[in-house]
Parts: sequence; structure tokens; C-alpha cells
Amino acid sequence: MSSHDVDTKMRKLPHGGKGCKVITLSNNKGGCGKTTLAIALYLFLLRMGYNCLLIDGDPQSNASQRLGIPETGYRGRRLSDLFTNAKNRKYVKSQMGIARLLHFKYLFRMTEEKVGKGIILPGEHFSGIHAKHAAELMDQSTLLNYFRDCINAYKPYVDFIIIDTAPALEGNHINELAVQVSDILLCPVDGYEAASGIHTVWRWIKKITSPTYLGSLPRPNMFFALVKLQDDMAKAEAKETADPMIRNQVFHCLKSVFGDFVCDTTVKEQVELKRITPMLGRKTNYQDLCEEILEKISNTNKPFFRVATDGNFDKLEELLEPMRKGAREGKDLTIHPVQFVGIKADRSGDVSDVAVPA
Ligand SMILES: Nc1ncnc2c1ncn2[C@@H]1O[C@H](COP(=O)(O)OP(=O)(O)O)[C@@H](O)[C@H]1O
Ligand SMILES: [Mg+2]
Repeated sequence: MSSHDVDTKMRKLPHGGKGCKVITLSNNKGGCGKTTLAIALYLFLLRMGYNCLLIDGDPQSNASQRLGIPETGYRGRRLSDLFTNAKNRKYVKSQMGIARLLHFKYLFRMTEEKVGKGIILPGEHFSGIHAKHAAELMDQSTLLNYFRDCINAYKPYVDFIIIDTAPALEGNHINELAVQVSDILLCPVDGYEAASGIHTVWRWIKKITSPTYLGSLPRPNMFFALVKLQDDMAKAEAKETADPMIRNQVFHCLKSVFGDFVCDTTVKEQVELKRITPMLGRKTNYQDLCEEILEKISNTNKPFFRVATDGNFDKLEELLEPMRKGAREGKDLTIHPVQFVGIKADRSGDVSDVAVPA
């Protein structure tokens, strides 16, 4: 299909609902479920009949790959191209054509309801570098205006724009832009490290939206979702690990500090999800969570940044500290003062030092 065909199809899409919402998945911690939740939410919203655009803001492009877009395919039609064309003002008008219209056969087959149109702007290995280069060429503030124009160009056609992002926020231009154009930030949390990660997200958002940075910018609302929780204690005890208990404590800590901003629906760890991630046509725990997220997004007017304080995050850190300590003591992570070249894990997960051969 030529770019022109896609462009025409995009323009024929029924208009998105009143007020398209931009949702970014974010956490400073890697591997905590951002991409899985991004895809789950995207597919859920499509099933509900909404038109959605998924932007893969992670140079690792996991979301694109899991949705069947190979790493090297569709050259010229990826997020990178948005940044390499940033100096070309005419590009905003023509960039509509670069996103891919996806046809989810399984979704169509498995549901009687009207399915929304799924569009994707795939990720690319160099997207971060291209974004950084564009920011240097035209300054971050002009790039933000350009990126916002691009996002606004999509808005009339979709009800939701979902942006998946890379971890490690500091200095990441794509993540910055995503947050600066977002209405909602969704932070998946899979344990105490990811719970601490949201403290970093909070400080970082305050910085990149502050008047002294690029001028005062609106801050997105924030919600937290607990994913990958193991709650089968018997199984956990058999495996002699305190980890699942710790993870459930994380839920209670977050809930006690941030109340309604924390989703009540938690997602259990499901072994099969480790293997098949696209979850096309499958009902998983993520479905119920997505229902709750949609409700929260639609009904919560209370903005997180007006309510939350540094004191809340201090309290959270205080509650998480015993877990960190417990985890340190539970696992023998003592590093002996020997010269070593690396660590070797055997199949039971025990870690041992590897000494440099004499
Ligand atoms: N509920 C779950 N049960 C088991 N594995 C999961 C679950 N949710 C996500 N995963 C797996 O955890 C890993 C990390 O998730 P991912 O969404 O890629 O995290 P991130 O995008 O934050 O790096 C992936 O291999 C994914 O398949
Ligand atoms: Mg990811």
C-alpha cells in the first residue's frame, strides 16, 4: 500500500470523539510492564470501538515488534521520520500518511461489537538520536511545538493516542516530548523498584514542565497500575522466595499514600504472558485493569499534581525502605573483596562471583 493510500484512508476515518486524550506509559524503571500495558490498553480501547493511535517512543521498538511490525520494515514510515523532518514545516500536514493503519483480524473475528481503527507509528532504533539531533538543530522548545502540531494533526481522527516510552528518563528527548503533550501519565509498577521509579517520574515531570525550563507547561494527570503481581503464596513458599509478599506490600504502600490514583485492579503474573505478548483476541487480567483505567480517565477531575506533595513521596520511600532492606537480607548479595570479572547465575537463580583466573 502506498503512503498516499494510507493517507487517504486516514483522512476517511470517522472523527475521533470529543477531546482526543493522549496517554503516555512511563516509569523510570525498565521491564515493569509499560509496553505490555500500552498494547493491552490499545487493544482494549479498539475493542470498545475507539479509534486509537499507538506511538512507539522506545527505540527498542518492542511494542511495534509485538504488534507484528518488524524492526527493519516500513522505512520512512517510523517515528524517526517525524524527527528527521522536523525542520520541514510542510511536513506536519503530510505526516498523516506515515502512520500505519493496522488491521487486527483476530479482533474483528472475535467480537460482535464495532471495532475501532488501529493505527501505529512504529518505533525505530535511532529515534532517540534523531530526536536529540532535532532538539539541537532547532532547540527543544521549537521541537516541542512541532511535535505538538504533529500530535494535533492526528487528534481529529482518533479518540486516544497512546505513547509507549523507554525507561531511564533523564536526557531522553522523546520521553520529554511525550510527557509535555500528554493528558495522562500511566505508570505501571511491578515491585518496589518501580514504585521508587515513580518518585523519579514525579521529580522529572516537575522539572520539564517548570517555568524556568521551557516556560510553564500543563502537567498530565497521573495514575498507577500494579502489574505482574504474584499472589499465590503457596507457590511462592515452595519456591522459597519472599518476593510476592513484598510485591503485594507495594500495592498497599502505594494505595495508602496515593489512594484513588492507584488502580484497584491488579494484574497477576501470568506465565503465558511471558511468551505471547500481543494478546490479540485473548482475555487476560489486563482487560479488567484497562476497564478501570478507562473509567478513571473519563471520570477523574482531580489532578495529581495539585494534590500530591513531596511529603507523599517521602512517606512512600519510608514505607518501601523495609522492603528494600528485606530483599537485601533475604538474598545473599554480599560481594566479596575478590577481583572478579562478572557474576554467574545458576538455574536456581543463585548468584556467585567469578574470580579472575590466575
Ligand atoms: N502479567 C504478566 N505476567 C507475566 N509476565 C508479564 C506480565 N506482564 C508483562 N510481562 C512480561 O514482563 C516483561 C517486561 O514487560 P514489558 O511490558 O516489556 O516492560 P517494559 O516495557 O516496562 O520494559 C515482558 O517479557 C512481558 O511479557
Ligand atoms: Mg517497553
